[in-house]
Amino acid sequence: MKFFYPAMIGFTALALSACATTPANLPTAQAQLQPTAGNTATGLLTVVQQADHLSVSLHAQGVPPGLHGFHVHEHGDCSSADGSSAGGHFNPTKEEHGGPHAMHHHVGDFGNVTADANGNVDFTIDIPLTQLTLDPAAPNALAGRSVILHAVADDLQTQPTGNSGARLACGVVTLQK
Ligand code: CU
Ligand code: ZN
Repeated sequence: MKFFYPAMIGFTALALSACATTPANLPTAQAQLQPTAGNTATGLLTVVQQADHLSVSLHAQGVPPGLHGFHVHEHGDCSSADGSSAGGHFNPTKEEHGGPHAMHHHVGDFGNVTADANGNVDFTIDIPLTQLTLDPAAPNALAGRSVILHAVADDLQTQPTGNSGARLACGVVTLQK
């Protein structure tokens, strides 16, 4: 038994390091959200492609407390002062706007995120790969699009925007590898 323990420790260390490297091999993308003119919201969108879905998370700061519509928009272009250069909601399947769990919605309708009393957003959502993917050759590829955080809540029904108001922050989604 004296020699058994060191062998087990070595095996455990190997197994742990193998597990630790697996997530790093999954396709990932990010977007740095920058505030539009007159606003203070900043954030980081992180996307990791799992076997059958994208794990999407948004961490944001400087956001007025309350609900805010959050969507993927068509153009990966945040150059305009008001974020309008990002275009409308990304809609390759010619669907209606709606909530992320509704029968009909744009592929990048993420619904609403909540900013707490300190203006912080900590939001996650899982999106099936049939809806959005990091495969750059797919018609529903997320990278190269933008994400927009809006001034007010998405009502999840008004066409084609959810009536979520002005654009507080915009970020272009880019593949990390
Ligand atoms: Cu939007
Ligand atoms: Zn939409």
